[in-house]
Amino acid sequence: PTPSARGPVSWLSLALTAATGAGLVVWYDHLKSQKVQGIAAAGAATAGAAAIGGPFAGLVKVGKDGATSPFSSDDLAGAGWHLLYFGFTHCPDVCPDELEKVAAAVDALAAGDKKKGKPPLALTPVFISLDPARDTPAQVGAYVKEFHPSMLGVTGPEEAVKAAARAYRVYHARAPTGPEPGDYLIDHSIITYLVSPDGRFVTFFGKQVDVQGLAAAVWERAAEWEKEHGGVAAAMRA
Ligand code: NI
Repeated sequence: PTPSARGPVSWLSLALTAATGAGLVVWYDHLKSQKVQGIAAAGAATAGAAAIGGPFAGLVKVGKDGATSPFSSDDLAGAGWHLLYFGFTHCPDVCPDELEKVAAAVDALAAGDKKKGKPPLALTPVFISLDPARDTPAQVGAYVKEFHPSMLGVTGPEEAVKAAARAYRVYHARAPTGPEPGDYLIDHSIITYLVSPDGRFVTFFGKQVDVQGLAAAVWERAAEWEKEHGGVAAAMRA
């Protein structure tokens, strides 16, 4: 097929890949747009794993002490496993629910499961804001603390945030809720991304996955990856 026949890889095709695989019903946070739902229903090409992830730069990370430092996709390489979630701190319900789930899964993985022969797996959760206009580093730093002590808060200039979202095929759009410029929510895709210690996208999880399901699936994919790469340490040396 010609490139155009295959179509561009997009957030939409990512959503459909997941929808097909997992029977997913709810994908968008606060979504009001019939048009987007219509497009989603119309069908599209599916995205390969290779098309998700990739370089982004120019963001700001907020550490545990509130100190800020530059953040880019390079920071995901050589620093263990990561779970990425894109959202916004003013999100009324979906983001808090998803971040609580991620935090609980991180704790479950860190504990391991001796009975099932699963060694502990260390994983850093990362929250990336899709609302840099309101999500200052201080705001993001305070927000992530509510969920997990090891969760990194990331925000940055609007263009840098957009580029990171684009790299991970995250759909996001402002949805006005009132007359003031600050009256808005952000419709966004609800996806948690697993990133391996070499900084590459491995797989993603939707809203329908619960804590146990998320932890089990992450553990399984991480075990596969580490077997293939001779463990995290060996992969880091390579
Ligand atoms: Ni949200």
